[in-house]
Amino acid sequence: MTGPNRREFVQAAACLLAGAALPGCAGVAAVRVTPSNGAVRLSTRELPQLARAGGHAKVLPEGATTPIYVLAGENGGYTALSSICTHRACTVDVEGAQLVCPCHGSIFDRTGRVLKGPAREPLRSFPLTATPGGELVIRLETQP
Ligand code: FES
Repeated sequence: MTGPNRREFVQAAACLLAGAALPGCAGVAAVRVTPSNGAVRLSTRELPQLARAGGHAKVLPEGATTPIYVLAGENGGYTALSSICTHRACTVDVEGAQLVCPCHGSIFDRTGRVLKGPAREPLRSFPLTATPGGELVIRLETQP
């Protein structure tokens, strides 16, 4: 993997100045969470956007540098994906049913599968368990 190019650097600087208002700046809105025993526990009561199909939340575990998207599926299931593009490590944005990379246009579906390159590898996924009471447990062991 190589470092950011000029465009990526300029975008990162713009995000710092403009907050989440610009496309590609979703990292600013991450909810900070504290892991326990290698896992993050979320509640759909505290993050109501996860209680509806198609909703999502972006969380940043304490001590981690990689934010995670938690995505609510259409059939009540959930997915936890790294927000870091597998092409050159830009932060992807959730746009409806897709995750779109603003740097070079890669598109992923809500399971992390590549729909359009240049990325070739899927987004990193994290094991997630949902309880009937609305608790989501995300295991972090696979996060770099
Ligand atoms: S960093 Fe190049 S498409 Fe995402």
